[in-house]
Amino acid sequence: MDKDNYKGIILAGGAGTRLYPLTKIVSKQLLPIYDKPMIYYPLELLIKAGIQDILIITTEEDLDKFKNLLGDGKNFGINLDYFTQKKPEGIAQAFIIAEKWINSSSVVLLLGDNLFFGNKLEMTIKSAIEKNSGATIFCKEVENPERFGVVEINDELKVLSIEEKPIKPISNYVVTGLYIYDNLVCEYAKSLNKSDRGEFEITDLNNIYLNKKRLESIILDNSFSWLDTGTFDSLLEASIFVKENKEFF
Ligand code: DAU
Repeated sequence: MDKDNYKGIILAGGAGTRLYPLTKIVSKQLLPIYDKPMIYYPLELLIKAGIQDILIITTEEDLDKFKNLLGDGKNFGINLDYFTQKKPEGIAQAFIIAEKWINSSSVVLLLGDNLFFGNKLEMTIKSAIEKNSGATIFCKEVENPERFGVVEINDELKVLSIEEKPIKPISNYVVTGLYIYDNLVCEYAKSLNKSDRGEFEITDLNNIYLNKKRLESIILDNSFSWLDTGTFDSLLEASIFVKENKEFF
C-alpha cells in the first residue's frame, strides 16, 4: 500500500515507575538520550520512513511538555497531533483512543521508548509499509526474551506464535516496539479484552492478525541495533551508543 495512506502514532504515556525517581516529574520519553530528548528518536524515524501525519499519545500531566517541545510539527516539516491516555491500560488502547484520528488510514505504531538504528532501517521500514497487507512486526534476537513478547518462528522465518513475557521463552526472538497495521486495527483493538495484568495487550492484537494469517514478520539482523530504555543501565547504554554512532543522526 502507498505510504501516503499511512499515519504514525508514537505511544509516549505509561507510568515509567521502573525508572523512579528519574521519571517522578518527567515523562520517560522526555529523558535525555545523549543530546536529545528520547521522543526525538522515534519521531525522526517515522519522518525518515515518509510519515507526514503523526499522533503523540501521552498522559494528561505530560501533554503540555510534549506540546512545548515539539509544537505542531512545522519545524519538522510534518503535522503533529496530541491525544492523552487517562491511565496506562495497554499499548493496544492507542487504537481505541485514536480511532477517529486514524479515520481511513493505515498506521505505523512506534513505542516512544524504543530506539532503532541501522543504515538499512529507513529502507526496511519503507519497503515493509509498501508490502504490508494486514500487520507487520519487527523481531530481534535478544538475551533476555522473558521481558518481551516472544515469537516462535519456523525455518522459513514465519511466526507460529507470540507470547507476552513468558516465564519459559520458546525462543530468543522478540517483538520490538515498531508495528505496521492496516485500517482494520481499530476494529480488532475494540474486540480485545483486558489481560490478567489489566492491559489491552499489543500481543493479543498481533495474535488476531496471526490467527487470520494476516501477520508478516521481519527479523532485524545484527546490522540493526534496537535499544530498550527500560532500565537505568539500558538508558545509559543508549546515550553512549548515540554518542559513539553519530553518523546515524
Ligand atoms: O519494547 C517492546 C515490548 O513492548 C514488546 O516486546 C512487548 O510485547 C510489549 O508488550 C511491550 O512490552 P513492555 O513491557 O516493554 O511495555 P511497557 O509497558 O514498558 O510500555 C512500552 C511503552 O509504551 C512505554 O514507553 C510506555 C508506553 N505505554 C505503555 C502502556 C502499557 C503507554 O504509553 N501506555 C500504556 O498503556
